[in-house]
Amino acid sequence: MRISVIGCGYLGTVHASAMAALGHDVIGIDVDDHKIGELAQAGPPFFEPGLPEILTSATATGLLRFSTDLADAAGAGVHFVAVGTPQTRGTDAADLRYVDAAIESLLPHLAPGALVVARAPCLSARRRASPPASQSARPNTATSRAWRAAGWRYQGLGRP
Ligand SMILES: NC(=O)c1ccc[n+]([C@@H]2O[C@H](COP(=O)([O-])OP(=O)(O)OC[C@H]3O[C@@H](n4cnc5c(N)ncnc54)[C@H](O)[C@@H]3O)[C@@H](O)[C@H]2O)c1
Repeated sequence: MRISVIGCGYLGTVHASAMAALGHDVIGIDVDDHKIGELAQAGPPFFEPGLPEILTSATATGLLRFSTDLADAAGAGVHFVAVGTPQTRGTDAADLRYVDAAIESLLPHLAPGALVVARAPCLSARRRASPPASQSARPNTATSRAWRAAGWRYQGLGRP
């Protein structure tokens, strides 16, 4: 299956790599061109056991690619949104502005029937995944709230 992962931080990079290791055709997207440059060279910008090896093999086969251009996510059947959700200053609530921005930018590139999965601890991402009235394609939406400890993210995704 063709998959996109929007946001290639700790969670997104591991998620994209694990999906490619399972045989999916994965495009990882991030707004940080330095990070995307490192990932395209199979160099994760953080430590995670097993990740450098899977990045190297998955990028070599072509099953895992990285881009800063959201248009490269077009055609994917499932889009995982894994951008940051920092705590809002002075409250316990998650700041959803990055989730909102990523989903709004993704809408023009969605194919009919595509599934948008917010990999964030915020159910309201479902609301933001609804397209503008002018858009005929209405994406299916879901959220995934699984948490993995640092050092165990790849193992957890590879063996759910
Ligand atoms: N870190 C974990 O182990 C973990 C586990 C489960 C869930 N989560 C959730 O996953 C989400 C991401 O967490 P993280 O730790 O990977 O965050 P992170 O800050 O490491 O990575 C977020 C990435 O999103 C990118 N980004 C921001 N806006 C973007 C946009 N519009 N388009 C594309 N890329 C964009 C940033 O450049 C950054 O690289 C959060 O909601 C977090 O709560 C994290």
